[in-house]
Amino acid sequence: MVELPDNFRWLIAGVTGSGKSYFTGYLMEEARRQLKRFIVLDTKKDNLRGLIQLKDVHGVQIYPNTAYNFFKVLTHDYLVFYPSERTTAEQLKQQYKQLLETIYYHDKNRIIVIEEAHRMVGQFNIEEIIELIQREGRGKGLSPMYLTQRIQDFSKLIWSQCDRTYIFRWFIPQDISYISKMIPDFDKINSELAEHDVLEYNHKNGEHKIIKAQDIKRITAHYG
Ligand SMILES: Nc1ncnc2c1ncn2[C@@H]1O[C@H](COP(=O)(O)OP(=O)(O)O)[C@@H](O)[C@H]1O
Ligand SMILES: [Mg+2]
Repeated sequence: MVELPDNFRWLIAGVTGSGKSYFTGYLMEEARRQLKRFIVLDTKKDNLRGLIQLKDVHGVQIYPNTAYNFFKVLTHDYLVFYPSERTTAEQLKQQYKQLLETIYYHDKNRIIVIEEAHRMVGQFNIEEIIELIQREGRGKGLSPMYLTQRIQDFSKLIWSQCDRTYIFRWFIPQDISYISKMIPDFDKINSELAEHDVLEYNHKNGEHKIIKAQDIKRITAHYG
């Protein structure tokens, strides 16, 4: 089991198909058991939506050119947002920026899962609302969980402020040496990771452990 602190900033990184969403779904099932409020900002329709099988988990589909009362939606404790087939990545990003603004100013005590986070937390352009949540969110109990498959496109600055990284097996040598600058000995640890295994690295004390794929068990459907 992975313990969920009251306050955290985590990065979850792995190539497409490595198991990021599956693992995150597992973490949100755990969050639901522990009554820790969460919101998932998904970028695909069929991904983490399976979490709505859990009691009180509410799904919200984002359609193009539609106005949402995010303030009202945030009265739900457990939320999964996901796009319709016709919603473009850019439209979704604009909606999610507004949603994050509403969370930052009106919500508290919430795990915020951001899928494909490099879109909002780029190496050279970090959305302002992300910087705010990253810097001031702790006092409000806002805990971002950034997911990315493009490690070199994700802001190194934001990563350096994360307290934990969960990372899957990597294949591209350039990526492995890049990651090794943040996680010492990653090249060695990487070779010990089997498919869907995840390395938990604690940036505060340098401790690490490997969570085996067979110990990550979902109870809700995973569509990814
Ligand atoms: N711990 C696991 N045990 C069994 N199968 C897994 C595990 N993690 C991932 N998978 C399988 O791998 C597929 C891809 O995982 P997914 O989380 O969707 O990848 P990503 O989000 O990194 O692209 C899933 O559909 C699932 O079938
Ligand atoms: Mg995924």
